[in-house]
Amino acid sequence: MKKYFRNLTAAAVLASLVSCSGTSDEAERKADELLARMTLREKIGQMNQVSGGYGLMDMAAAGEVGSILNCVDPVEINAVQKAAVEESRLGIPLIVSRDVIHGFRTIFPIPLGQAATFDPEIVERGARVAAVEACASGVRWTFSPMLDVARDPRWGRVAEGSGEDPYLTSLMGMAMVRGYQGDCLGEESSMAACIKHFAGYGAAEGGRDYNSTMISERSLRNTYLPPFKACADAGAATLMTSFNEIDGVPSTGNRWLLKDILRDEWGWDGMVVTDWNSAGEMIAHGFSRDLEHSAEQAVNAGVDMDMMSFGFISHLEQLVKDGAVSEKEIDRAVRNILVLKYRLGLFDNPYVDTEASAKVDYAGEHLEAAYQCALESAVLLKNDDSALPIKCGSRILVTGPLADAPYEQMGTWAFDGQKEHTVTPLAALRQIYDVIWEPGLVYSRDKDKSSFSKVRAAASKADAAVVFVGEEAILSGEAHSLSDLCLQGAQSELIAEVAKSGKPVVAVVMAGRPLTIERDLANCDAMLYAFHPGTMGGPAIADLICGKVSPSGKLPMTMLRDAGQAPFYYNHNNTGRPCSGNETLLHDIPVGAGQTSLGCTSYYLDTGYGPLFPFGYGLSYSSFSYGKPELESCVLERDGILRVSVLLENTGNCAATEVVQLYVQDCVGSVVRPVKELKRFRRVALAPGESCTVGFELPVSELAFWNADMKHVVEPGDFRLWLAGDSASGEPVGFCVR
Ligand code: NOJ
Repeated sequence: MKKYFRNLTAAAVLASLVSCSGTSDEAERKADELLARMTLREKIGQMNQVSGGYGLMDMAAAGEVGSILNCVDPVEINAVQKAAVEESRLGIPLIVSRDVIHGFRTIFPIPLGQAATFDPEIVERGARVAAVEACASGVRWTFSPMLDVARDPRWGRVAEGSGEDPYLTSLMGMAMVRGYQGDCLGEESSMAACIKHFAGYGAAEGGRDYNSTMISERSLRNTYLPPFKACADAGAATLMTSFNEIDGVPSTGNRWLLKDILRDEWGWDGMVVTDWNSAGEMIAHGFSRDLEHSAEQAVNAGVDMDMMSFGFISHLEQLVKDGAVSEKEIDRAVRNILVLKYRLGLFDNPYVDTEASAKVDYAGEHLEAAYQCALESAVLLKNDDSALPIKCGSRILVTGPLADAPYEQMGTWAFDGQKEHTVTPLAALRQIYDVIWEPGLVYSRDKDKSSFSKVRAAASKADAAVVFVGEEAILSGEAHSLSDLCLQGAQSELIAEVAKSGKPVVAVVMAGRPLTIERDLANCDAMLYAFHPGTMGGPAIADLICGKVSPSGKLPMTMLRDAGQAPFYYNHNNTGRPCSGNETLLHDIPVGAGQTSLGCTSYYLDTGYGPLFPFGYGLSYSSFSYGKPELESCVLERDGILRVSVLLENTGNCAATEVVQLYVQDCVGSVVRPVKELKRFRRVALAPGESCTVGFELPVSELAFWNADMKHVVEPGDFRLWLAGDSASGEPVGFCVR
């Protein structure tokens, strides 16, 4: 691996030496002083965020823009900044923003892949690398992390979040916030995080992007809001509203969300920006009459900055004159914006150091971190007859449209990633094996099977075949929902064709979402699910294939047999008629059967009940055995701490890492409680034959939920707890809370 890495970047070293200057109070005091000197027009200018290419220079010079997005050229950034700082009356600097979602130049696995690491530390490292690189270009504000809990893989944006679990999403989100913001926002390599999309956007009906959501207040509070609360408490500097409406109210005009909950309940003091034109889109929703009305509704609901509707800059002055928006609301918004700019140190340091930025070395530790993250994110789903690892030096067939696709393996939202730096699996495998390369298909949607005969002939000459399938980057992400989640094009046929050779077949899936791969599993001996692994995906996958490292990723989303099962998630409420496992399936129904109930439980006639793979699932080249969970005490007070441990043993014959997961069920509640909820997890590395006791502490207060009285409380009663390697394994032990 060494050859891919060079030395620690100069920027990273420099960043660690810059100390935090200025306190938060100072930022607030300075913001108040400046605010007092501003005209209404200047204040409204600060509330306007504009994308590059929209006549920025004049607007900046006139003080009519507070922030820009999508500009990443340091020279261009400095030119616009100069107009704002040196030509506008008050010289207020702009904040430069960008969607730095999973890396800037060095691309890490997509966030869903990062969540599969169950390793907040590596995720934090990734965000730090992204901040160092982006800040060097002048980008001091990223629209990340996306905290939308998502339970429907049809939704293309599942790629951008941490999957279906609120706790995992919270931990990954907090890690990103820490990584982006560093020790202090004022450091030159610190970038303000933006927690998004507030709120409930991941619950789009039918998994169709931008769609309405039907979320009860309780479900919102128990499932969708906790990651936002956790990251708000962790000091996330900004928040973005969402495109969706909840129960008829678009988030950008939702005073209850943006004021009552965010400000009054949580006491959060950051800055709120809309999503791209989401204020203007309240017109299409049928919530605002026109752009003027939408500006009024957004500001009065609690929005501070308008991304790209131009409604604020066009109408707020008149709205204030008419008394529809008070100047107090404007002052609130502008103060939040100015405080952020002071905290970022932009007034002292508005310009990008173009010389330093040209010297940033994107190799070294950055690539090492991206490699480590990709290594930990791949999930081994099947490994019959130890098809993996494949012995180094073997002759292998490498085929499939994702084997040598440097751009596609970076995944969605990788605008600034450099495909020239990307190392593909083909390139990396060539350094380990005697590779026969036959692409088979040119891209993931390719249906042209004319070269399949060559692939099969090549397979017969190889010791094993590795087929790289999945999705091109464009098939997931924003506005890329799918109703059919099978492999696109002729990829399934390609796997089946290779299987006909009788050689061991390893399928590696690189995709933006959990696809429905049941039929493909049947045609391969082993399957590694790598998501879109980013710049260093190739070396990471190659090292997993050759067994240098054993896979340790775990699924952050349930994998379905069929898209028709969506939404499907492990932490669901039970029905009154849960599936027993003995249900009659479609093929067992006799022809001409009378109208019988077939068991009267909650399942599908065709796909049954269970998922293909449960949340938290993932194999390794070794095996682990779990002892019985040992509770320090089975009776706990509401202010107590649950302490539990389990003996974990590596029973296989290679070093491997297991993610030990702690799940809890509140057996009876004043409202129905989920069948299981993830409460803790830990990655544990063990040598072959080694065992260790893995202990967890869980304050009982973390068993609280929003109950029948819409109060956040721990209800006394019986609980069950599991310690296991996935959400469907392990034997429960009971405890009670008094
Ligand atoms: C729209 C997306 O929903 C949001 O996530 C993104 O940050 C903005 N566009 C800005 O690009």
